[in-house]
Amino acid sequence: MDYLFAPMEGITGYVFRNAHHRHFHGIKAYYTPFISPNQTRKFTPRELNDVRPEHNEGVPVIPQILTNKADDFLWAAGRLKELGYTEVNLNLGCPSGTVVAKKRGSGFLEYPMELDEFLYQVCDGLAKVGMELSVKTRVGKEKPEEFEELLSIYNRYPLKNLIVHPRVQTDYYKNHPHMEAFELAVRESRNPVLYNGDLFRRAEIEAFGQKYPGISAVMLGRGLLTNPALAETKASCIAEEKAGSVPQLTVERIRAFHADVLEGYRKAIPGDKNVLFKMKELWTYLGEAFEDSAKPMKKIRKAQRMEEYQAEVESLLIEKQIRSEPVFSGWNK
Ligand SMILES: Cc1cc2nc3c(=O)[nH]c(=O)nc-3n(C[C@H](O)[C@H](O)[C@H](O)COP(=O)(O)O)c2cc1C
Repeated sequence: MDYLFAPMEGITGYVFRNAHHRHFHGIKAYYTPFISPNQTRKFTPRELNDVRPEHNEGVPVIPQILTNKADDFLWAAGRLKELGYTEVNLNLGCPSGTVVAKKRGSGFLEYPMELDEFLYQVCDGLAKVGMELSVKTRVGKEKPEEFEELLSIYNRYPLKNLIVHPRVQTDYYKNHPHMEAFELAVRESRNPVLYNGDLFRRAEIEAFGQKYPGISAVMLGRGLLTNPALAETKASCIAEEKAGSVPQLTVERIRAFHADVLEGYRKAIPGDKNVLFKMKELWTYLGEAFEDSAKPMKKIRKAQRMEEYQAEVESLLIEKQIRSEPVFSGWNK
């Protein structure tokens, strides 16, 4: 089974992806946080920096686009083709209120006829320029029963794959994935189906693979932020010529990974304050990899200056053990 790194806005930009790819292995492709094209026909500096080839050397990247306008989508895809990309991913999952209010992301799922027309135009346009389309979708706006109609629409188009995160928009990240809707896709999708959602432990990933042997890849998000080695297997160690090494997260690996992310942000972002903001967001997840990390995490969050921040991170790394199984604890509790 292949592992894909989920797009996570604010976190998995190019600095993070490069550092992850350098220090951990097992990821087949990294999806960018969404690019949101509009009438201006210009990427924002952040969007452009994220996809520039010189910022992604040697890293397998698939750009994601969020829009409900076919001409905006095709414009962005065309620009991405000029930059060397051959596949683009459509975001039909974002649950955020502002995005949904504009009928984008999972908000677009409420308008199946418009979605159908959009996909018709996008697939037609992409075929003309020889690009592939993949879709990352939730299973509905309000109810998983909506997925039947949505799937029948996806089945009309030749997608590279359909990545299903089986929640509805109103679930946000709460509740549990609606596996019955995912299973409908497994049975009836004409396009290859991939899975995303709440796979946080190796055992869960393996059990998933056994239950759904036809699924060739899973996309992992928050689990990888807490345990950046989650996608490493004995097989990928051998493929990386690290045979004999047991895939595991160690303090040394986290220290080196963290140093790279920090250095990358210091180069890319002006002002320590903004850099610290980004780093603290990362620790929200990574902190859970350590035993008894509540107190040091509080100090990391409170640090206002770079030196203070670095000292608090080092104290955590020296004083606290990595959990025997570092696992993102979920937002369901
Ligand atoms: C902070 C954050 C930012 C996200 N940004 C995006 C995004 O830009 N595009 C997208 O398709 N999904 C986005 N997602 C959703 C994730 O890609 C993924 O679908 C979700 O986290 C469920 O997978 P997981 O349970 O493995 O984390 C985001 C999720 C989080 C928590």
